[in-house]
Amino acid sequence: MQLTLASRHYRDPETYARERTTVFGAGWQFLGHEAEVTQPGDYVSGDLAGWPVLVVRGADGTLRGFHNVCRHRAGPLVTEPKGQCGGELTCRYHGWRYALDGRLRSAVDFGAAEGFDPREFGLHPVTVGLWRGFIFVNVDGKAGPLAELVAPMEALFAARGVTLAPATLRRSHDLACNWKTYVENYLEGYHISAVHPALAAEVDGSAYRVRMDGAVAIHEVPTLSGVNDGLWAWMWPNLAFNVYRYGMMVEHMRPIGHDRTRLDYLYFYDPASDDMEAILKASDQLTLEDKIICEAVQKNLDAGIYETGVLSPRHEDGVAWFQSQIARALT
Ligand code: FES
Ligand SMILES: [Fe+2]
Repeated sequence: MQLTLASRHYRDPETYARERTTVFGAGWQFLGHEAEVTQPGDYVSGDLAGWPVLVVRGADGTLRGFHNVCRHRAGPLVTEPKGQCGGELTCRYHGWRYALDGRLRSAVDFGAAEGFDPREFGLHPVTVGLWRGFIFVNVDGKAGPLAELVAPMEALFAARGVTLAPATLRRSHDLACNWKTYVENYLEGYHISAVHPALAAEVDGSAYRVRMDGAVAIHEVPTLSGVNDGLWAWMWPNLAFNVYRYGMMVEHMRPIGHDRTRLDYLYFYDPASDDMEAILKASDQLTLEDKIICEAVQKNLDAGIYETGVLSPRHEDGVAWFQSQIARALT
């Protein structure tokens, strides 16, 4: 019998503080796609479990990552999720200017401070990794090779001949729950018949399985009509690739503190051939159904009566794997 992770880990700010370092700081975090940063000075930025980071393309064409935190008094260099910064990154607080490789170029109007060497005040770097144009960052610089993490995903994409459609669209949804509550919901199809009636009519719920390959969870489900035929795959710790016939949606399950989660959806689609309106409507409906159940579960986890439960050997292998990784990260 496999017991669940103790409920306090879904409501304790201390647990989240540790996860920020041992899960998110230590691993590869999704940030965007290379198509968003084609020119020197183009950047993408984001808050990754409380780590504000940016990736910018240098004059030499190289992508470099930094904490979006000025070395003077911690001001932000960029405030938009993506954009063009020109030839340098300029702090929004007092205007210090950094070269695109992170060196402090000018501590504007600072005055003569004894012992102050601008060469020691470059931006703190983060490691950048690329896979199929997707940009990842590693905050602590000690994660293993990105290629190793994505290898099962790469094998799936290669076997299915997955390619990216040209148009992109970003949308977000906010959930009042711990990030793990939502991730675990994504990691099983057990809830489909009770939570997603429209989807349940499409899939053979009794044959629904989630299989782990490395740090990737692969949903395998025979569909009755073929309408939802596709590939749903999640990768540790909080990213999923949902491949449909119209294109793909990358789903980033981003914690905003210990009790809030933001789902960032990045759609890749073909603007000429698809009915995005209907696709987004179906996607919104599914998300709403998951939001309602995850928020209800979170309230019950917060209530205090539930300490630990049990996991289904038929349906919850993915959840079990995820919880074992979390338990390891917390010890
Ligand atoms: S905090 Fe950046 S210039 Fe002051
Ligand atoms: Fe769901």
